[in-house]
Amino acid sequence: MKEKLTFLGIETSCDETAASVVQEKADGTGKILSNVVSSQIKEHKEFGGVVPEIAARAHVEKIEFIIKKALKESNLDLNNINGISATAGPGLIVCLTVGLNAGKAIAGSLKKPFIAVNHLEGHALSPKINNKIQFPYLLLLISGGHTQFLEVRGVNNYKQLGTTIDDALGEAFDKTAKLLGIEFPGGPKIEEWAKKGNENYFKLPKPILKKGGCNLSFAGLKTAVLRTSKKLKNQKEKYHLAASFQKTINEILYEKTKIAMKEFLKNKKDKQKTFVIAGGVAANLSIRDNLSKLAKENKFASIFPPTNLCSDNAAMIAWAGIERYKINLIDNLEFLSRSRWPLDSSAPFLKGPGLKL
Ligand code: KG4
Ligand code: ZN
Repeated sequence: MKEKLTFLGIETSCDETAASVVQEKADGTGKILSNVVSSQIKEHKEFGGVVPEIAARAHVEKIEFIIKKALKESNLDLNNINGISATAGPGLIVCLTVGLNAGKAIAGSLKKPFIAVNHLEGHALSPKINNKIQFPYLLLLISGGHTQFLEVRGVNNYKQLGTTIDDALGEAFDKTAKLLGIEFPGGPKIEEWAKKGNENYFKLPKPILKKGGCNLSFAGLKTAVLRTSKKLKNQKEKYHLAASFQKTINEILYEKTKIAMKEFLKNKKDKQKTFVIAGGVAANLSIRDNLSKLAKENKFASIFPPTNLCSDNAAMIAWAGIERYKINLIDNLEFLSRSRWPLDSSAPFLKGPGLKL
């Protein structure tokens, strides 16, 4: 019988120190043997966002313990591991380097294969851990740092269909939360408050809804939230603003995902229609409901990974390592971390103030 591949994955691209052991199953999906995530929310709370130096120091302090914990919980030791993968970008260089160096050191000392993983590829392939999905599929990646529509054509093969031209969606949630006096990261609390408010109370703008294909923009919405937040009279109105903001986001995502679905199907007959979401914001249940409704209307099967695989984790990095190893995409130990690393290098770089679509 063919040996089942088992990988140790390490993730330190932002404010989560994470390690995980994942094993390939006979049916091609994965079994998560351990998935340890240590969040630094407490460390960054008073600053209202992630402070790179504080994050890097916390990674250095925790990384060894987290890797040992992941191995212990998997009931395996390093000799049973076929390879090591670590996030090499995109992200904060000072943070990435910690996990990347740890991964290289383990791989180097044990003479095991090392895979440098693009964090975005980790998110993109994560739905395949629990589901048998065939390429290509449509992915909406919505996190604190990224907002993209991607056609996932295969491992290491991506076409970017659209992206945000300014803020990431998670950033828009966090900034709105901050204006409402909610501590960082405020996304989950906005979802909670939205349930208590009237979503039609405030009318907020939907930038570039009718132009720019499936590219997105949230800066104008953020400015409108800022203006509105200054006039709020009581807590009830804060709930109304949270609800109105979330409703506006849902309307934007609904329209833009519809366009992305059309683009995905363009010029392709008999293409299987699978829609997948990933990234921390994909934990939001109202966004999930909204997009699963849209998928149904457009006859797409929707696959939404469990929330612990949507937010940053190392199981997705271990899994991407397995997938890349299977097609011989093995890296050497000189691989350096990258702050910017698009999955589709041919996609135009759209971010920038004053950009017109
Ligand atoms: O993917 P992730 O864990 O880290 C990044 O790679 O950025 O995403 C974190 C983001 C934060 O902006 C957080 O506020 C947002 O995901 N988030 C949510 C929810 N849970 C997390 N946003 C809206 N609703 C949620 N339930
Ligand atoms: Zn992420």
